[in-house]
Amino acid sequence: MNETAAARIGILTVSDRASRGEYEDRGGPAVRDYLDEALTSPWEADARVVADERDQIEQALIEMADAGCCLVVTTGGTGPAPRDITPEATEAVCEKLLPGFGEQMRAVSLRYVPTAILSRQLAGIRGSTLFINLPGSPKAIAECLDAVFAAVPDCVDLIGGPRLETNPERVVAYRPHD
Ligand code: MTE
Repeated sequence: MNETAAARIGILTVSDRASRGEYEDRGGPAVRDYLDEALTSPWEADARVVADERDQIEQALIEMADAGCCLVVTTGGTGPAPRDITPEATEAVCEKLLPGFGEQMRAVSLRYVPTAILSRQLAGIRGSTLFINLPGSPKAIAECLDAVFAAVPDCVDLIGGPRLETNPERVVAYRPHD
């Protein structure tokens, strides 16, 4: 991997209303703002918006992995409502799940809102891509990423992705395998 090349990171907003243009996508830009603040190494976004449709989500995740994204962050569709299907679509395209991410995000999120327990968000690996599900609320995005991001650079190293450097004022990356 060329370490001077920008790391490609997928940002997938899953929302029926945002995909129809009835609602401004606020989740995708919130993920982008977080990554701009947390990462000091060069990165570029592959940002997309899809409906809460399992096949559209799976297809976008596979395309982003095939396009070389080392990390794909999804936002939305993790709750219990009938149309919420993001975790199932993510699990279907993963080779390995990393249950600690969902456990930690829910545990930390419960300090903010009792309804954190309603999110079925998960994380997993497909090839050299780490997928992380986040809730749709823009407020939840930084809360959840702060809960797990210290482990993301090491995970991306371990799956053969580029070296992600972080701004220690936002996230101190823990790299036990350096
Ligand atoms: N987690 C954090 N950190 N902050 C939040 O505001 N909202 C919760 C939960 N997790 C929330 C959170 C709510 S209200 C719901 S319904 C679930 O995430 C699922 O949200 P989603 O369906 O938009 O993915």
